[in-house]
Amino acid sequence: MLDLTAIRSTLSEIYDLTPSAELADSMKDIYARMDRVISPADWMIYAPYVKAINQLKKERNAVVLAHNYMTPEIYHGISDFVGDSLALAIEATKTEADVIVQCGVHFMAETSKILSPEKTVLMPDMDAGCSLAESITAEGVAEMRVKYPGAPVVSYVNTTAEVKAASDICCTSANAVQIVNAMEADTVIMTPDQYLAQNVANESTKKVVFWPGSCIVHELYTAEDLRAYREHEPEVKIIAHPECTPEVVAEADFTGSTSGIVKWVHDNKPAKAMLVTECSMASNISDELPEVEFAKPCNMCPYMKKITLEKILWVLHTMENQVEVDAEVADKARLSVQKMIDLSRELGL
Ligand code: 13P
Ligand code: SF4
Repeated sequence: MLDLTAIRSTLSEIYDLTPSAELADSMKDIYARMDRVISPADWMIYAPYVKAINQLKKERNAVVLAHNYMTPEIYHGISDFVGDSLALAIEATKTEADVIVQCGVHFMAETSKILSPEKTVLMPDMDAGCSLAESITAEGVAEMRVKYPGAPVVSYVNTTAEVKAASDICCTSANAVQIVNAMEADTVIMTPDQYLAQNVANESTKKVVFWPGSCIVHELYTAEDLRAYREHEPEVKIIAHPECTPEVVAEADFTGSTSGIVKWVHDNKPAKAMLVTECSMASNISDELPEVEFAKPCNMCPYMKKITLEKILWVLHTMENQVEVDAEVADKARLSVQKMIDLSRELGL
C-alpha cells in the first residue's frame, strides 16, 4: 500500500509541484485537449505534474501506454499511446523505449511484460486489479477442460499471466467473435467473462461455454434503465461495451471495444450519445467532439481510478513497482497472446 502523504512530501522536495497560473498558461496547448472537462483551477494543480512526468520520461527513455479509461489529465497530458487492450498489447511489442509505464490495470502491465520481457514495466499502483482477472485461476481453466474435453480455451486478456499460460489463445473485446469463429472445434470455452461469452455466442456459429466471471462496472447497467432513457430522449444513440449483459447489448445502437466506441462516435457524430461503459471515456473525447452531447449515467472503474499523476511521477522517479512474471509462465502466456495478435493481423482487425 502506497503512503500518499509521504510520497507527496518527498516529491515536492524534488520537483516544483506548486500550482502556478503562469506554468498552466505556458502549457495551454496541452490544456486545450481537455478544457471542456477539466477546470482551469484543476489544470493549475495538474500542470506541474504533467511537466515533471514528461521531462522524466525523456530522461528514462520511457513511454506511457494508457488505456482509454484513464482520466483526461493522464490521457491527454502525459500519454504517448492510448487505446483499448488489443492496441496496447500490440504497442508493447513495438515500442523501442527502455521503460513502459502502464497506465491501466495490472493485467495490462503483465501483458506488456510478457510481450517485452527485456523492458522495465512500471505499474503506478500494484492494487489496480480487475474483477474479471480476479475471478479465475489456472485451476479454473483446468476444470473447464475436464468438463468440456477437447474444447479450446479462449481467454479474455483480462486474466492473469497464469490463466493466459493455461489457455490456447487470448482475445479482447475487439476481436473476440473472430477469434472464437477461427477455432476448429464446434464447442469453445471462453473465460472469464460470462457476458462477453454470451454476446459472442449470439454472433458466432460456435457453441460457447463459459466461466461465470463479470465486470463490476458493466454488469451494473440494466436494459430497463436504457429503455427508460431512450423513451425520455428518443434521439440518443446508445453505445455499449460487450462486457455488458446481452439484454443491455440488445438495446444498444452499437457495441464495441473501447477504441471501437471512440471510432463509432467519431464516425457517426450523433447529437446525443450515451456511452454504456466507464465514465472517463466520454470525458476523454469531449473536446474532440464538441457537437456531441454525452448523456450520463456512467459507471466508474475503481481499479482504473487508482492511477493518478502523483503515482505515475512516483514510480518514474523511484523506478518502484516493477512488474515481474515468472519466465516459464511468461513463455507459455506469450504463445496465447502472440497467437491472438497474429490472428488479428491475419484477419485484418
Ligand atoms: P477494451 O479492450 O475494450 O479496452 O476493454 C478493456 C476493459 O477492461 C474494459 O472494461
Ligand atoms: Fe476490469 Fe471492468 Fe475495470 Fe475493465 S472496467 S478493468 S473489466 S473491472
